[in-house]
Amino acid sequence: YGTQKVNENGHLTIGGVDTIELAKEYGTPLFVYDLQLIRERARGFIETFHQLGVKAEVAYASKAFSCIAIYQLAKEENLSLDVVSGGELYTAIQAGFPSERIHFHGNNKSSFELELAFDSNVGCIVVDNFYEIELLKEIAQAKQQSMRILLRVTPGVEAHTHDFITTGQADSKFGFDLNNGQADEAFLKVKDDEYLNVLGLHCHIGSQIFETDGFSLAAEKLMNKISAWKEAYGFHCTVLNLGGGFGIRYTEEDTPLEPQVYVKEMIETVQSFAGKLNLSMPEIWIEPGRSLVGDAGTSLYTVGSHKTVPNIREYIAVDGGMSDNIRPALYEAKYEAVVANKANEDKSNTYTVAGKLCESGDKLIVDALLQPTEPGDILAVFCTGAYGYSMASNYNRIPRPAVVFVEEGQHQLAINRESYENIIQNDLALSLKRG
Ligand code: LLP
Repeated sequence: YGTQKVNENGHLTIGGVDTIELAKEYGTPLFVYDLQLIRERARGFIETFHQLGVKAEVAYASKAFSCIAIYQLAKEENLSLDVVSGGELYTAIQAGFPSERIHFHGNNKSSFELELAFDSNVGCIVVDNFYEIELLKEIAQAKQQSMRILLRVTPGVEAHTHDFITTGQADSKFGFDLNNGQADEAFLKVKDDEYLNVLGLHCHIGSQIFETDGFSLAAEKLMNKISAWKEAYGFHCTVLNLGGGFGIRYTEEDTPLEPQVYVKEMIETVQSFAGKLNLSMPEIWIEPGRSLVGDAGTSLYTVGSHKTVPNIREYIAVDGGMSDNIRPALYEAKYEAVVANKANEDKSNTYTVAGKLCESGDKLIVDALLQPTEPGDILAVFCTGAYGYSMASNYNRIPRPAVVFVEEGQHQLAINRESYENIIQNDLALSLKRG
């Protein structure tokens, strides 16, 4: 992946930095992010729009991995930002991210969060539901402040990796149903509002998608709706946001397309429907998360105990697990790994890589083909950059790992390792008295 290589000592390097040195300096478990790869991905998306002459915003879906330094990198790379909570918004503002390029999402934004969005002057709020419309109207009125909005709709297209399903009505907690009048009702509630300025529509059809068909079909459905609103109400749509979800390769079972291919297909679909329906070409916004940071992240662990279950399997345990990567336990997600200090040796052994948490399901990789390992080896698990750290927990009171950024032979801490002091910082002593 990206800048990964093996050096003369047989050590895995990332961004020209020896991972064994990183493990020594920063300890394990450790997330290592290859900044060059993130930049390449970001530029790939932006250039594709540019080449095809389509106005766009490429918003990093920061739920995939959020911290101050990644927001600053996103700013450097001219990305916009998708935030889904007051916490992500706050972090982005603290990072100095330009607020006009922040898009605020969520299916249950609180008044507090919406006010924060107004006070921060975010570029756009993606409106999810009728309750939110009422809150937004009240807040905008009270502040006498206008706000650009997109209406999030569920087009009845749901994509899961290779398959996508289309249903008349989508069973989703997100957005206004496009097919049963809800989206129309929402539009009527906001179209003449003094402060809310409807730019267009948003949809997100799923995650880790390998095919383009779902995106095209969703784009078609949204364009038809825009056309209907133009006919009926003279609506001029300026933005079509088609979400994220572009798949990446975790293991060889995964067969994603090049990230740009999804974008090209989307653009062509929108262009063709704009032509057919006699609509002006809207800006196209996308929200990639996983495909920007997923394969740029590698987790380093130290191998500890081994256990052989005769005739069944051999376990090796590492110093992290479901507390820093919940995806195998939650989604049966698959990963590949290498023994980073023996990266040029043959992978001749099969191990099940277990974590250190008190749950039988805490296995990072079942039946991983690896170099023969011993305690003290450093295991590198690939493609953990998306939804790893961001979904980490303190289960078993395990401190969250540190995060390091590497690029061109340099490295820096992006997030400190949590300490035991951090773990108890919000705990209070028992103070209720008995009897
Ligand atoms: N936009 C919206 C509205 C979303 O809900 C999501 C992801 C994205 C963009 C970014 O999707 P991506 O490009 O990263 O696929 N925790 C799960 C993934 C949850 C995705 C939630 N929404 C996982 O670890 O696979």
